[in-house]
Amino acid sequence: MRTTVIAVVMVMLCGMMVQADVKPQRDFNLQRFAGKWYRVGLAYESASFIPYRDKLKASMGIVTALANGNVNLTMWDATPFGCQVKVYQYEKTNVPGQFTYFSTRHNMVKDITVVETNYTDYALVLKHKVFNSEYTQVALYGRSQTLRINVIQKFKAFALSRGFSREAILTPPPAGSLMYLR
Ligand SMILES: *[C@@H]1O[C@H](CO)[C@@H](O)[C@H](O)[C@H]1NC(C)=O
Ligand SMILES: *[C@@H]1O[C@H](CO)[C@@H](O)[C@H](O)[C@H]1NC(C)=O
Repeated sequence: MRTTVIAVVMVMLCGMMVQADVKPQRDFNLQRFAGKWYRVGLAYESASFIPYRDKLKASMGIVTALANGNVNLTMWDATPFGCQVKVYQYEKTNVPGQFTYFSTRHNMVKDITVVETNYTDYALVLKHKVFNSEYTQVALYGRSQTLRINVIQKFKAFALSRGFSREAILTPPPAGSLMYLR
């Protein structure tokens, strides 16, 4: 009897998780999404990241669409030790706008969802691991380093709706040292 009740509760919880799950941009077009983006917003709740919150700078990335539908994301980060370049490899899934990637830092596979983009101005991207807020991030990308206030508000509202605290939702200043890459 007791196990049945637990099983039913589990099924209900799982059903709710799926419903609460976020959908990617409708008719996602990878070719239009490719190219240069600036990460102008980041929501990240991880305790280990708290000391770096006020040091965060807008970083630059290039999205390369590969022939097989996968993505290489090359990111340039301004750090106290200079400019760091990293390549992230996102693998396509059967849902357009939804990717997976293996995080070497956390040693786990994560889901990447391009939640909303209009390709020419902004993109709202959710990097997540179901059941674990420690590993979840929301990023706001812009084709330029300054975005309109309504887009920034959209990013903040989305991050709040995913359970981030206000202190964890950051809109870092532009990184001057990245200018030469333009
Ligand atoms: C994508 O990234 C991988 C790993 O860094 C690299 O080997 C590959 O050449 C890249 N592909 C393109 C088209 O840039
Ligand atoms: C994208 O969003 C920006 C800012 O909201 C707007 O100015 C622009 O017209 C939009 N572009 C498209 C193709 O919808």
